[in-house]
Amino acid sequence: MNGEQLRQYLEFYRDLGVKTLYRRVAPPLPDGRGVETSEVETRGSESDTLLKIIEDIGDCRRCRLHEGRNKIVFGSGNEQSLLVFVGEGPGADEDAQGLPFVGRAGQLLTQMIEGTSSREGIPLKRDQVYICNVVKCRPPENRTPEQDEMEICGQFLSRQLLTIRPKAICALGGTAAKALLGVKEGVTKLRGNWHKWRDIPVMVTYHPSYLLRPYNQNAKKEAWDDLRKVLHYVYD
Ligand code: URA
Repeated sequence: MNGEQLRQYLEFYRDLGVKTLYRRVAPPLPDGRGVETSEVETRGSESDTLLKIIEDIGDCRRCRLHEGRNKIVFGSGNEQSLLVFVGEGPGADEDAQGLPFVGRAGQLLTQMIEGTSSREGIPLKRDQVYICNVVKCRPPENRTPEQDEMEICGQFLSRQLLTIRPKAICALGGTAAKALLGVKEGVTKLRGNWHKWRDIPVMVTYHPSYLLRPYNQNAKKEAWDDLRKVLHYVYD
């Protein structure tokens, strides 16, 4: 990294409100695998809060997605949650209500969280976890968010995660995986194994909308397996 790159890098984190930036050898992943390279760990500004982030988003017009939105969908649930689910972006129902995962995919997500946890003897209700998306405004026709939209909105997702500092993150679908892990591989390749966002373990699994399609029913068992791993890691 040259001097100019380093300056830009430090400015990027300063704008996020990050005060401490240091390199260290990352702790092992939940499955015991070591992480070979050292990673950058960041701590959010001690004084950042979800309310401040909402205030900073304001009546956002930073990207083209503001043009068609009704409501900004920031996130919902327990701000002290040990587990955060990250989806792609609001759909029509979410855009109308201003809340994440309230449509059909949301109903399935609730079943996934509450059904799996109750079967595993971990009493957990949906409102005990935190749920948000990579982009906070609905993309037109529910298209996949574009790279620049993900980057612009990504600063707020990063601040949300740094403020909550969950024990684990569950990335729902390829867009969330790409935004958090910066990788090109699809969900099929990434799911079932632990990855990291900064120093927080990330499990990738299928997006509930994908699981709603009749021809993808066989992926449900895999999603249930992924969720079981996450729940045991976080709540055992
Ligand atoms: N799909 C998402 O990715 N997020 C939502 O909030 C709803 C559907």
